[in-house]
Parts: sequence; structure tokens; C-alpha cells
Amino acid sequence: MPKATISCISPQKATCEEPQANPFGIVIFGASGDLTKRKLIPALFHLMQAGLLPDHWYVVGSGRTHMDDEGFRKVVRESLQSFRKTASTPASVWEKFLRRFHYLSGDSQKAKYYSLLSKRLIQLDKEHRTGGNRLFYLATPPDLYPGIIHQLGEAGLNRPIKGAHWSRVVIEKPFGKDLASAQALNKKVAQVFKENQVYRIDHYLGKETVQNILFFRFANAIFEPIWNRQYIDHIQITVAEDIGIEHRAGYYENSGALRDMFQNHLLQLFCLVAMEPPANFEADTVREERVKVLKSIRPIPSEKIDQFAVRGQYGVGIVDGQPVNGYRSEHGVKPDSRTETYAALKLHIDNWRWKGVRFYVRSGKRLAKRVAEITVEFKWVPHLLFAPLISENIQPNTLVFRIQPDEGICLTFQSKHPGPKLCMDSVTMDFSYRDSFKGISPEAYERLLLDCLIGDQMLFARRDWVELSWAIIDPILQHWQKMPDSGLPIYEAGSQGPDEADDLPGQDNRQWRAL
Ligand code: BG6
Repeated sequence: MPKATISCISPQKATCEEPQANPFGIVIFGASGDLTKRKLIPALFHLMQAGLLPDHWYVVGSGRTHMDDEGFRKVVRESLQSFRKTASTPASVWEKFLRRFHYLSGDSQKAKYYSLLSKRLIQLDKEHRTGGNRLFYLATPPDLYPGIIHQLGEAGLNRPIKGAHWSRVVIEKPFGKDLASAQALNKKVAQVFKENQVYRIDHYLGKETVQNILFFRFANAIFEPIWNRQYIDHIQITVAEDIGIEHRAGYYENSGALRDMFQNHLLQLFCLVAMEPPANFEADTVREERVKVLKSIRPIPSEKIDQFAVRGQYGVGIVDGQPVNGYRSEHGVKPDSRTETYAALKLHIDNWRWKGVRFYVRSGKRLAKRVAEITVEFKWVPHLLFAPLISENIQPNTLVFRIQPDEGICLTFQSKHPGPKLCMDSVTMDFSYRDSFKGISPEAYERLLLDCLIGDQMLFARRDWVELSWAIIDPILQHWQKMPDSGLPIYEAGSQGPDEADDLPGQDNRQWRAL
């Protein structure tokens, strides 16, 4: 398709307010885990380098692994060597960063640990002159969350100490494994923390391209008037990955694509595309609109789930020219596993804006390529002016939000093909983040961590949102659990997913965009 590259002509210098956090201490539970090394430590480093952290702050790593401060600083150093963005860092910056890191080993489920932790925090608040603001980051396996939350409450660490402004808790996904467990966890959290202290993380909301959906919709006058059932035919949301489950079989076997990707990331994307304009740009007003979308999703009748939800599991295949194992042969996976690695849903929203518009949503591992995008497909032209062309030859306009990779937004429309003959082509107008905002793209965790520190909950899931999302997912999970093994389609690794998924848009004479 010919491409008219219209990169946003040198964006005007934005007047941006840079948020600044108060002095703080962070306790990371699960400090020797992957998330801490890959995401949290690099995020703190980049925030510091960007001048977004105050002068006074510290981190206490918490875990069962026996280590002292020096041992943990070695972990921090290794993490930065592997995952920091800047190639070289002066020794003085390393030193300044490393000396903020401390470690306290012990059993996070036992009261004894918290009396030691409290004393250590009082001492570090003084040493680093932070004034006592504390963030407790739960990056452990989820079965440890209730115990940690309980003990934080018992030790009084849930309340800001004298002179401090705040005490907050960050909870990583997965938040529960079904509605009942999410409700139980929410209940436990609410016994110890007020909702305005709780940050349920979904890293998709921290992605620049995801945040931009709201700016695109509400900072431009031309799109919102056509953002409804009168002009939009359907919307597709795709998060496809080419990787398999890597070393995460232990987690993934008990999760599957629906829990891992839909209950959180895909439904959050769905809410941003479908929500009504909020009354203002404050955290709770925006979160309220996201909640309203979930409340308007039409429940899928239990006897019709197969018409609205499809799953699959990857078999052997070729990815990137290399032969790869099927899911059941991955290390740590049961040879007769029924865990789905692909899921696709068709959803409807029952409200004035979206009545009749279908939303097709899919995600899977070991697909043809890694791509996350939202496609808004507009209606067909109502009447064809250009005889002898027929209207089916004219592709409807599409607007694609490319969330990753190659972040950008792309609009396709019809154009006359040069020459005396009457013919036309689909062309695209492309906006690319990389070309327009050279190099300015912080990682999701940087943004989210900073928001926890400054106290902005807009990009975090509220208690009711989490429970509503599980209420949508739960009946599908239960239905799949009851189905016989033969009901689980196997798709070839490196493909578009199971053929059965084509029926979701196929029943409506629509089709998925090719990956
Ligand atoms: C995580 C899931 O939440 O998101 C993973 O647990 C998935 O299974 C990952 O691979 C995808 O995130 P991203 O940012 O790479 O699209």
C-alpha cells in the first residue's frame, strides 16, 4: 500500500509540568526477583538521571536470600549493567546511586521480621533524611501478598509515621486468580490500607502509546465526534507475542492467556478506547469512566460462550526462521496441559455510544510476530460516486494505534491513483513516535513508579475495576475448564493463531487484521 509519510512536523516545544516526588524510602518485597532486577532498579536509575527524584531517598530490599547491603548493591550493579539505557555512567553517579540501597533478609510472613524492619526504617529515614514517607512494593509471588499486607498492618507500617506525609502499597499483577480470590485480596488490603494508599499496577497503562489514546481522543477536535456507532464499524485489539512462555512455566501453567493478559492489559486498553470523556483529568474521574465501561459490557450468556470466546495452545512451528517447541514440550509444562496460550473474545458494550459495535480482542504467545495495536475500522462508504468502481473495492478507513513496536498512529484512506484511468488506492498517513519525539520514551515502570511516589493513582486499577474485570473473565474460564480436552485447538507456532478464532469476526463477515 503506498504510504504518505506525514511525520508530525517538529513538535512544538511542549510546556510540560515535571512532577517531583517528596523524599521517600521504598521497601521492595521480592528484591532478588526478576522484576526488581529487570524493571524496578533500572527505573529508579533512569528517574534519578532524568532529575525526577528528590535528593533524599533510599531502598530496602527484602527477601529470604541471605545478603547484606553490599551483597544487594552487587545485585543492583549487575542489574544496571544489563538493563540501563545509557552506555556509560560516571563512577560518582554509580556511587551516589548504590549507597541508597540496603537489604534486610528474613521471612516476610512473620511478625518478627517487621519489628526488625520498623527499626531499620526509622534508622534509614534519619540517615537519608527522608522524613518517613514509605512505599511498600509487593513484587513477590502473589500467595505471599496477604501475609505481607497483614504484617504491615500489625506493625503499624500502614499508617504514615509522625512527620511523614504518606505510606503506600504497590501490588503487582496477578491480582487474584479469579473473582473470589481477587475479592478476598481486596478485602484483606482494605482492612489495612485505605484505597487512596493502594496502587494496583498494570504496566500497560504506563506505556506512552497507551496513555496517548486519551490525548488523541480528547485533545483533538476532529476524532471524538466520529467516535461512535454511527461511524465506527468495529474495533480490534491485538496483543500478539512471538515469544513462548520462556522460563515462566510455574506461573503460566496456573494462569493462561485469559488471566495473564485479558483480565488486566487488554481490558484496560478496551476501557481507554471505549470510555466517555471524563469531567476532568483527575485520577478518580478518569478511573470512574474506565469502571463504567466494564459495567456496560454485555454479559455473555453461558450457553453461548463458544460463540464469543475462543482459545488455543501453541504446538510446534517455526518462529523467526527457527523451529520451536510446542507448549506441552516447554520446560516445566505438563505433557497433557490444557492451559491456553491464545484467547480471543468478541465483546459488546450496551450504551448509546457503542450499541451494535463489535469489539474483537485477541492475545497469544508464539504468534507470527510481536505486535500490540488497536484498530478502529470505520463504516463503508454509503454510496459510490465513482462508477464503474464498485463500493466493495473501496476499503473502509482504518485508524491504527500501534502500541508496540514501531510506536505510532496510522490512518488509511482512499486516494486517486495517478493517471487517466479511474482507479484508487489505499494510502496511509503515519505518525511515528520515534521520528517525531526523538528518544523521549520512558519505560512504563519509570512512569508508574514516579506516579506512586507523587501519589497519582490515575494509571492504576481501582478495587471495583479489578473485581468487574474478573467478573467478565470468570464465566469463560469456568466454561473452558468444563470442556473436554478435544475442545482446545492447537495452533502452529509462528502462525496467526487457531483457525477457530477466525470465526469470531467471520460470523459477522469481518476478519482479523493479518499479523
Ligand atoms: C505480562 C505477562 O504482564 O506482560 C507476560 O505476564 C507478557 O506474559 C507481558 O509477556 C507482555 O508485556 P509487554 O510489555 O512485553 O507487551
